[in-house]
Amino acid sequence: MTEAPEAAFSAVLRQASATDHAEAESAGYMSDLMSGKLPLAAFAALTARLHPVYAALEEAAEAMREHPVAGRFVHDELTRTPSLEADLAFLRGADWAEQAENSPAADAYAARIREVAFTSPEGFVAHHYTRYLGDLSGGLIIGRTIERLYDLSDGRGVSFYRFGEIPKPKNFKDAYRTLIDEAPFDPDGRALVVAEVREAYRLNSALFAELGAIRWNEAA
Ligand code: HEM
Repeated sequence: MTEAPEAAFSAVLRQASATDHAEAESAGYMSDLMSGKLPLAAFAALTARLHPVYAALEEAAEAMREHPVAGRFVHDELTRTPSLEADLAFLRGADWAEQAENSPAADAYAARIREVAFTSPEGFVAHHYTRYLGDLSGGLIIGRTIERLYDLSDGRGVSFYRFGEIPKPKNFKDAYRTLIDEAPFDPDGRALVVAEVREAYRLNSALFAELGAIRWNEAA
């Protein structure tokens, strides 16, 4: 293992959320999507739901940019809202914004970010970590799989999953884990981060459950 030593907070965080990760990863919608059982519209619906989530997260990053603790996590090369918009324009057409469907799960996720990530460094770091470290891990696999399954060329429709400005994700993730280890969170602050990361995973699982409840193949 090349990961941080056991006592490091990044390792504690990963360990404390491992079951939540396993649950999110094994969602029926995800495995159906990744095995090519769903129409491309099912993938577009995930992209559409991630848009309000990242809009909230990236607005929070702007609000936190100068914060002495949270601001260290803000990296412009992570910004995903413009690539989500480009993907939606490809997947749903130029009028994608008018087609936005009702999604209680995406609304709840974005609302939670707006509630905790604009003012609390623990809340911000928790949501930032859960999304971007996930995007730089499983997200890369998801993007490549979707591209192959649906024969998308030049990354059209999947630019969200391509971090052009982060050529070496492993190095970036290692440096990010060092930031987590060095963040001056006291034990209560660390407990808050852990609890909010677990909440973030629950919100992601709820998003997958919502997508999993749609009968894609009948709708197509
Ligand atoms: C098909 C679904 C998924 C797959 C295949 C997957 C796969 C992976 C893999 C292989 C890693 C380890 C990477 C490494 O050690 O460098 C990882 C880490 C991670 N994933 Fe996922 N993942 C999936 C879904 C998710 C979801 C839905 C989230 C939450 C939004 C998420 C968040 C994370 C995070 C935060 C990490 C970093 C853990 C850490 O090292 O602290 N993943 N994922």
